[in-house]
Amino acid sequence: MTTGDAQIERAVEMIAGARRVGVLSGAGVSAESRIPTFRDAMEGLWRSFDPQELATPEAFARDPERVTRWYDFRRRKCLDAQPNPGHLALADLEEVMRDRGGWVTVLTQNVDGLHQRAGSRDVVELHGSIMTWRCCESGRRFRDLPAQFEEYPPKSPEGALLRPDVVWFGEALPETALERAYEVAATCEVFLTVGTSSVVYPAAGFTQMAREHGASTIEINPDETPASEVVDLSIRGRSGEVLPLIVAGVRKALE
Ligand code: OAD
Repeated sequence: MTTGDAQIERAVEMIAGARRVGVLSGAGVSAESRIPTFRDAMEGLWRSFDPQELATPEAFARDPERVTRWYDFRRRKCLDAQPNPGHLALADLEEVMRDRGGWVTVLTQNVDGLHQRAGSRDVVELHGSIMTWRCCESGRRFRDLPAQFEEYPPKSPEGALLRPDVVWFGEALPETALERAYEVAATCEVFLTVGTSSVVYPAAGFTQMAREHGASTIEINPDETPASEVVDLSIRGRSGEVLPLIVAGVRKALE
């Protein structure tokens, strides 16, 4: 048996013995769907820009056309992408746990909507969604957006500016999402952190919090992160490869 097999087996044991599972997901989970990460999104025309200078309220106030063009370019990339085996495995795990009277809640830092498209029902969007845009004046949210906006910056029916419903640098995370995240971290029996560099707070603190509340903690990431030292089990691998193996193992263990 290779170390990888032993680690998968250990993760299966931890999860099959639980009913309440919290997951923190980051850009790495969507990497195999070829969603460009924040920095990778600076391709083509956008190569000369710094993402930190586009994803801020100040950038939007200064140049709403440029910022909305960039976000719409990213929104269309997300629409073209498909959920990968990692997303599908998490949706499957939710079904397994529901059947046992438990739950799986995915706390995601991703704005691409791929967890929901894969079938996950309990998803908390910590950084909002690029699929929803909101009116800067009324706060009204719009989900059924055209394939491409007719003008940049796009306007709401009231004639005010529309902006993507995402959290920009310097903005607070949505309060209800944060409250749910703390609740999940405090009440889950297993906490999985997948495809995140674990450096952006408060999301990075959830693993620690889950641990303090007695949960077993697992990380899945091809690279070492600050969470690697904190978790009970650190699996070096891609989420699209590791998660399907774990969930298949859990299904088998519970047969
Ligand atoms: P990052 O881009 O910081 O980190 C992605 C992580 O995924 C890295 O640790 C990679 O090693 C890992 N990774 C890459 N491919 C993977 C794969 N196939 N399977 C598993 N892991 C893989 O993304 P996040 O941690 O999501 O914030 O970043 C958090 C936040 O910081 C983002 O939401 C964004 C960013 O600045 C805001 O926009 C507010």
